[in-house]
Amino acid sequence: DAGSKSGRGALVILEGLDRSGKSSQCARLLSYLEGQGCRAEGWRFPDRGTSVGQMISAYLANESQLDDRTIHLLFSANRWEKRALMESKLLGGTTLIVDRYSYSGVAFSAAKGLDIQWCKAPDVGLIAPDLVIYLDVQPEKAAERGGYGGERYEKIEFQKRVADHYHSLRDSTWKVVDGSLPMETVEEQLRELATNCIQKCQEKPLTNLTW
Ligand code: TMP
Ligand code: MG
Repeated sequence: DAGSKSGRGALVILEGLDRSGKSSQCARLLSYLEGQGCRAEGWRFPDRGTSVGQMISAYLANESQLDDRTIHLLFSANRWEKRALMESKLLGGTTLIVDRYSYSGVAFSAAKGLDIQWCKAPDVGLIAPDLVIYLDVQPEKAAERGGYGGERYEKIEFQKRVADHYHSLRDSTWKVVDGSLPMETVEEQLRELATNCIQKCQEKPLTNLTW
């Protein structure tokens, strides 16, 4: 009985390149969990609904120009402004399925050439995920899926560098899922990973991200 009253909720992150299928899979996973009677919410970063999020959104749409370090810190600030709510949801027993987190922050900024340690530093102290699911799709395959929305980073050469940096960030909380498999197969794997995670972390305390 994933997500029964007693324990805390799990922090489950989906990561991957643009067009790797994260958003669709987040939605599918969320409705599955809800159907199982698990208390869960879908979140995403950037959260474009805040004033910081609106600055990020304008930058991504090429409607504004910002220095690379400045936009990096705004992405981080956008997570910090949600940290308190995230903590209270998790402690209250709600599982969060989150589309992108600090790994996107580091992988995308490092792909511009920024120092990795510098990129990691501002996110130290955010809540550490219980599970990071990386949807692994070749940049060429992702591009074939089309629908690159014309946002700033949606270019194949850039996405290749992002993929390399994601690779170097993998740690013990990561599970890599082949995102080129049929949608239903990917969905099935995510259900199993998330359900296990939710059960296992009920009694575990929350910890902070240290990298
Ligand atoms: P989205 O398409 O998932 O809304 O994300 C928007 C873009 O922002 C995507 O190309 C990834 C990028 N990004 C960063 O560069 N840094 C971050 O911290 C996050 C969360 C996303
Ligand atoms: Mg996008």
